[in-house]
Amino acid sequence: MTTIQSTPPASAPDLDPPLVKGLPLLGSMLDLVKSPIDFLQSQHKIYGDVFRFNAAHKKFVVLAGVEANRYMASEGRDNFSSQETWGRFLKGLNCPHLFIGVDGDVHQFQRKLFKPQFSKAAFKERLNLLIDPIEALMQSIDDEEVYVGPFVRNIICKQIGMALQGVEVTSQQTEEFMTTQNTLLNVYMLGKWPKLMLLNPRFLISAIRSNRFSKKMREDNKKRSAEQKAQCPTYIDRLEQGAEQHPEWFTEGDLRAQTMLPFIGGVDPVGGTLSFIIYELLKQKELKERVTREIDAAFSDGFPSLEKLETMEDMKGLILETMRLYPIAYAMSRSATQDFEFGGYRIKKGDEMLVYTVANHFKDEYFPNAEQFDIERYREPRNENKQGAVYAPFGRGPHTCVAAGLAELQLMVNVCVLLRYMDFEPAVPLDKVKVEFIPGPFMTKNFKIRLKSRKT
Ligand code: HEM
Repeated sequence: MTTIQSTPPASAPDLDPPLVKGLPLLGSMLDLVKSPIDFLQSQHKIYGDVFRFNAAHKKFVVLAGVEANRYMASEGRDNFSSQETWGRFLKGLNCPHLFIGVDGDVHQFQRKLFKPQFSKAAFKERLNLLIDPIEALMQSIDDEEVYVGPFVRNIICKQIGMALQGVEVTSQQTEEFMTTQNTLLNVYMLGKWPKLMLLNPRFLISAIRSNRFSKKMREDNKKRSAEQKAQCPTYIDRLEQGAEQHPEWFTEGDLRAQTMLPFIGGVDPVGGTLSFIIYELLKQKELKERVTREIDAAFSDGFPSLEKLETMEDMKGLILETMRLYPIAYAMSRSATQDFEFGGYRIKKGDEMLVYTVANHFKDEYFPNAEQFDIERYREPRNENKQGAVYAPFGRGPHTCVAAGLAELQLMVNVCVLLRYMDFEPAVPLDKVKVEFIPGPFMTKNFKIRLKSRKT
């Protein structure tokens, strides 16, 4: 078992973690770009819970395993900072207090402010805000081929718009948000693309339109009556409440970026997971039939309630198993706020770290026959997702996904509606479809399906 001490004893060896062998100058850059998760997994197998690698001019320390997950969320939490990691992104967007990229008091204040808005309980009586956008879309389709990427992003964007900001989002706006946010993430956060990409006309037009839309959302929200705001506060209402209490933490740039944060945080993670679910259902016909049977039974009195959704073991198993084997957020990027020791190695203040939070997902000791897609893992008595810090699709520590409840709910609603209304088959050979990183994992752009109405 890994041993950890946050204050190294005087006699502690000043050992650097082992360095992954890489190419001259490039280091491990090529493997990292090809598939970061395969790279981390293969090196974790060789070097264990702590290792270093270089990628061109950047140097990283990787921490992995149950102890890393536990440590980051408990006694070691103050050793990990998000501020440095997101610094360039926040500077580039001129939003110095954006929730995801700050630590300490500013972060805690915002987390408390927004958390109720993202919880499952918030949607108990308002499930229709998530159901209506996808139901309307399904009812408009009789027999059609669609590309999965834009199809799922469009659904998720509409749901987030309706459920959090009270606005209708069009397919064009969805595309513009995604172009804007993925360009900014690749340039500022990951450094994968040159700054020149910010001059690309497609990006510039998308960014201008997205900014206009963000401004309009706030203006429209102001027109809501005090009664409406009290009865059903939107995410933007909470943002305004925060700005009243702490104007210094909500500059104009912060407000503009925070208004869009649910799209940045939610669309590709939920959309990507949904694209993997669809892929698995196409690969496993029996699994699709089994989950569809459960859903049809649950629809006997109309759309299942939140309580009913929670009891649907096959559908939930499908979602949890997809998030285990296709984790969207596989590593948390941080910098070390001080020297500390982990697993016998010294981590130095300022080191850029990747906490490979999903390393355990692929271990037989926690998930027997870990390579096998098995939706039975999550029910009594196995409960394989309930082994402390082992299962971590939503990250660990103070920044763990604040909207995990909403994300699970969106996945449940979307799987239910999709399978209830539609039959679907591949419209491209499945062996031609792969996983790509844009920056998070998603099925490749060529993933196309044929949707046929079940006329239920
Ligand atoms: C399957 C879907 C999702 C996955 C796998 C996921 C995963 C994650 C992970 C791993 C983090 C932690 C990042 C870190 O520590 O650096 C995170 C944070 C966050 N997520 Fe999600 N997420 C999902 C859906 C959503 C949705 C739907 C929203 C909003 C509508 C959202 C909003 C956020 C926000 C605002 C944060 C920052 C929290 C903080 O800094 O305290 N996420 N998410």
